[in-house]
Parts: sequence; structure tokens; C-alpha cells
Amino acid sequence: TYVITQPCIGVKDASCVDVCPVDCIHPSSGEPEFETSEQLFINPDECIDCGACEPACPVTAIFEESAVPEEWKSYIKVNADFFTGQ
Ligand code: SF4
Ligand code: F3S
Repeated sequence: TYVITQPCIGVKDASCVDVCPVDCIHPSSGEPEFETSEQLFINPDECIDCGACEPACPVTAIFEESAVPEEWKSYIKVNADFFTGQ
């Protein structure tokens, strides 16, 4: 799965949402949580590992799970936790 990390915080460019073929990046701008969420997240159960989102992000916030930089490894769980219970 792909993971959104720290550089997204406060940026929320959302170009990733536009290119994702399975719409697994949330909250998108039409969703109620968009304004209050400090970043966007990728649903690990829905991501098909197509890789389209990675180059679309202007601040290089997105990495394949195994390539997430050491200091941002905690975001793997942060992304998954956003969808827990939904
Ligand atoms: Fe969506 Fe593909 Fe990115 Fe996964 S890798 S979040 S399926 S664009
Ligand atoms: Fe965030 Fe980059 Fe997407 S800033 S919303 S991960 S395009």
C-alpha cells in the first residue's frame, strides 16, 4: 500500500485524490472531515498499489509502504487508523 506522510500536513494539495483510480484517498474536498483534518490518508485495504499518486504530490508526501523514510514510519499506522471503524 501507499502511505501519506508529514509533508502533507497543512498542505492538503489533493492532486493525489484526482489521480487515484479507486478513490481510496480521504477525506476528499467534498467530505465533511476535509476542513478539520490536517492531512489526507490512503486506505490500505483499498489501495491497489498503482503508484499514480506518488508523482502527483507536489511536496513528496507519498511513499510506497516499504519506502517510507525512517522518521515517518509511524504514518503507516496513522493512515490505517483513519479508516478503522468506518
Ligand atoms: Fe490510489 Fe494508486 Fe495511490 Fe493507491 S497507489 S492511493 S490506488 S493512486
Ligand atoms: Fe497531501 Fe500531496 Fe495529496 S500534499 S493531499 S499527499 S497531493
